[in-house]
Amino acid sequence: MDVIDLLNAHRSIRKFTEASIDDTMVESIIGAGLSAATSSNLQGTTVIRVRNPETRTAIATLAGGQAHVETAAAFFVWCADLHRSALACEMDGGEMSPGMTEHFMIATIDCALATQTAVVAAESLGLGICYIGSIRNDPQPVADLLELPDQVYPVFGLCLGWPAQDPQTQPRLPLSVTLKEEVYDDSNDVARIGDYDERMRAYYLERTGGKLDRTWTSDMSALLGKESRPHMREFLARRGFTMR
Ligand SMILES: Cc1cc2nc3c(=O)[nH]c(=O)nc-3n(C[C@H](O)[C@H](O)[C@H](O)COP(=O)(O)O)c2cc1C
Repeated sequence: MDVIDLLNAHRSIRKFTEASIDDTMVESIIGAGLSAATSSNLQGTTVIRVRNPETRTAIATLAGGQAHVETAAAFFVWCADLHRSALACEMDGGEMSPGMTEHFMIATIDCALATQTAVVAAESLGLGICYIGSIRNDPQPVADLLELPDQVYPVFGLCLGWPAQDPQTQPRLPLSVTLKEEVYDDSNDVARIGDYDERMRAYYLERTGGKLDRTWTSDMSALLGKESRPHMREFLARRGFTMR
């Protein structure tokens, strides 16, 4: 498939067949992901493949009972990693300046770029994926289960497997809202977002056989109108990401 067609065909998969994925294929997917651009060649990503079924069940539970964490052929936790960067400084006789917000951002951005690159590689092979941000619902036990050292935090999980469903693609905001020319002009955004809301309403109604009457703006106010994982700041500080 043409790469742009592949990207436009993306949809998260939450039901997988029982078929396994060859280890060589997994390695080539993760290797491709880690070939993504990386800020100053920091390579601030560590991927932990979780095979142990008990650990998978524990993480699925911590993520709010997401069955696909257990049923996907492969499950990974993608971590932003400054532990190895600190080691590199020490190996060179230096010391990493502690707690820099910029370092935190670099490692997190690296991790997201590497993951999404692996996702594209996986989808190009016909595999399905689902990110699991909900591992941050209760991230300390996840960090404990994976024995993460200081200066490493779990950014998200990733389910990988052969799709056992064929969901519709979810409409995105129109480019007339998200791609701007020269300056941030939002004068037409309300009308255009209103149109998008109607497309999303139709998408939800179709996907749920008429049960779910929601829009993008109603999703956003439900999501953003309340506190979101307020423990994250303290969790990150405990791991050494003190943000200065
Ligand atoms: C960082 C991130 C975290 C996510 N976490 C979850 C999750 O915990 N559980 C889940 O089922 N889907 C999760 N998703 C999938 C999103 O819900 C999904 O990408 C979004 O609704 C758009 O749908 P699509 O991927 O089918 O286009 C996550 C996606 C991202 C990028």
